[in-house]
Amino acid sequence: MKFINKIKVAPSILSADYADLKNEIEKVKTAGADMLHVDVMDGHFVPNITLGAPVVKCIKKATDVPFDVHLMISEPLKYIDDFCKAGADIITFHTECDSPIDETIDRILANGVKASLTVKPKTPVEDIFPYLDKLSMVLIMTVEPGFGGQSFMEDMMPKVSALRKEIERRGLDCEIEVDGGINENTIAIAAKAGADVFVSGNAIFSSADRKGTIEKFKKIAEENYCK
Ligand code: DX5
Ligand code: ZN
Repeated sequence: MKFINKIKVAPSILSADYADLKNEIEKVKTAGADMLHVDVMDGHFVPNITLGAPVVKCIKKATDVPFDVHLMISEPLKYIDDFCKAGADIITFHTECDSPIDETIDRILANGVKASLTVKPKTPVEDIFPYLDKLSMVLIMTVEPGFGGQSFMEDMMPKVSALRKEIERRGLDCEIEVDGGINENTIAIAAKAGADVFVSGNAIFSSADRKGTIEKFKKIAEENYCK
């Protein structure tokens, strides 16, 4: 493979103990997290509510780990400036949202933050292709967004492969992230298809040995990447 990005693991704080968020973040950082995946849900775009920019701003002060903010909200454009100011390093939003996609990407980039797009399982990955040149990352959802602890959808892997092919065809420097149901078994499948950034909530936060789990994830992903 021509373009081999660094394998990254991004623990999702959706599965963290919110009463002890600062320590939880420090612990996963020490355990080897490359980014912190922050799931933002509005109870409208998805049937769950989590947190907003004020919380991101507070936890940002507690750590220097990059923030990978996943917006599962209907009108991301309205909140881009808030999340950028709060400390997002990369922002992912959904093509299925109600905001204009180009304008939303441009607003993220104008704030000096990296932009990323994602699709729900039923949406074709080709919907992202027109925007690919501006993106640092694309997220392929491997569960229906809304909740942690769901099962990995292996039938999303053709999307990852198609995206990997398109990124290489165009010679772009764009990472492919997968999110949902990632564990020691499913990470190999996603890496084989061409993913290089792995979100994991339940598997990391429920592990008694988070460092060991993250190390194992990286090793398995590296061994299987694009094989
Ligand atoms: C689901 C979220 C995911 C979720 C992943 O809507 O986007 O980030 O927290 O959690 P696990 O790894 O437990 O499936
Ligand atoms: Zn997520």
